[in-house]
Amino acid sequence: MIKVAIMGCGTIGSGVYEVIENNQAVLQKELGEEIRVAKILDLRSFPGTPYEKLVVNDISLIVDDPEISIVVETMGGTKPAYQFVKSCLLAGKHVTTSNKALVAAHGTELLQIAREKNVNFFFEAAVGGGIPVIRNIGTGYAGQVIEEITGILNGTTNFILTKMDREGASFEDVLAEAQRLGYAEKDPSADVEGWDTCRKIAILSSLAMDGEVDFEEIETEGITKIDTADFAYARKMGTSIRLVGSMLREEDGFSVFVGPMMVGMDDPLYSVSGVFNGIVIRGNQLGVTMMYGSGAGKLPTASAVIADIVEIAKNPARNVPFGWHAGKLSPKPAGARLHRFLVRFDGADAAAAQKTAEALGAKAPVFPDGGAEFAVLTEALTKDELKEKLAAFPNVKKYIRAALNGIA
Ligand SMILES: NC(=O)c1ccc[n+]([C@@H]2O[C@H](COP(=O)([O-])OP(=O)(O)OC[C@H]3O[C@@H](n4cnc5c(N)ncnc54)[C@H](OP(=O)(O)O)[C@@H]3O)[C@@H](O)[C@H]2O)c1
Repeated sequence: MIKVAIMGCGTIGSGVYEVIENNQAVLQKELGEEIRVAKILDLRSFPGTPYEKLVVNDISLIVDDPEISIVVETMGGTKPAYQFVKSCLLAGKHVTTSNKALVAAHGTELLQIAREKNVNFFFEAAVGGGIPVIRNIGTGYAGQVIEEITGILNGTTNFILTKMDREGASFEDVLAEAQRLGYAEKDPSADVEGWDTCRKIAILSSLAMDGEVDFEEIETEGITKIDTADFAYARKMGTSIRLVGSMLREEDGFSVFVGPMMVGMDDPLYSVSGVFNGIVIRGNQLGVTMMYGSGAGKLPTASAVIADIVEIAKNPARNVPFGWHAGKLSPKPAGARLHRFLVRFDGADAAAAQKTAEALGAKAPVFPDGGAEFAVLTEALTKDELKEKLAAFPNVKKYIRAALNGIA
């Protein structure tokens, strides 16, 4: 029998227990033997649950148990998750985690320890929930030079932006609704400020570039400044606004950013709505593909953990090539990457607006249905070039990135 321990029995940890129980028959068929959760580490004791008797409160009861070969980390955060995971790997146990904060902060070291100990440190569930994006980058896209990854990686913010788009509602109102529905945390900063997306695109960039991309070096902007007028312009232009994390391989390096971006109707990300995630990957020979699905939630995320467990169980005595190698890779400043931009200006004078549009490479400005302002969708520019050009316009209100292609 394969014995698994779960550290942290909250939403995802209890989901892992459930999937192992619910899908026992299919797991046994796939693995040729029984697989069971043998211990659960948590701060609580879960009286009355089917796993009450499995609960332990001391990590050493897992680390020192020679019968436990696979450990699932679903506690979240880095303290004490980092120490606990490291102890398990050093004790020769395989680990799978859903914890993007842990992987983004300590992934390089933990991958290295796993290699040295001939065990596996997997983290399929850390990005894209139930979407197998991490394994796909390693195996499905093997032999490709990955040129670009652009993804909607956070369901909470996508839910908020989709509602703002469809209902014309304000950020504050939709956030409050998302909190009522349980899609957003009481403290929503990690989602709405883009930090969650930042850690996820850091992990995907590390995989694509095969080196450590530090999330702290990624230019990150959230969605708190997106307002109803931005969406009114976007709709007029047949576009929408999404929060993306994006990595682009360039001739002399790569750049990464997280921020809101206008996308046209033909962009694959346009149709990713509500709490779903979508990740577009471009390979040098492959062209463009997109993965789409449930990017979070108990059972989708637990299913990704289970996929890791199955791969580990099929490779009990071998470190399967996975992750990235040591060595820090610094992204180029995102300000040097080409985009178009939606720029909003104060003023209602048609002639001045036309001049402004032409100065930014647009045929004409776009006027809202009311109000003394207008917007211009620029030609392709770097952010640094845009800033230089905008220095001549004291009436700039704000600007938002727009996709390079697909907007008329
Ligand atoms: N929820 C999702 O949809 C989702 C999706 C993808 C990835 N993830 C990631 O998965 C991880 C877990 O998320 P979650 O939503 O399952 O969180 P959660 O519901 O808060 O579960 C965490 C569990 O770990 C326990 N715990 C915390 N510190 C502990 C410690 N020192 N020792 C033992 N147990 C401890 C918590 O106990 P207490 O409740 O008593 O504190 C709780 O039961 C996070 O890294 C998250 O980012 C979540």
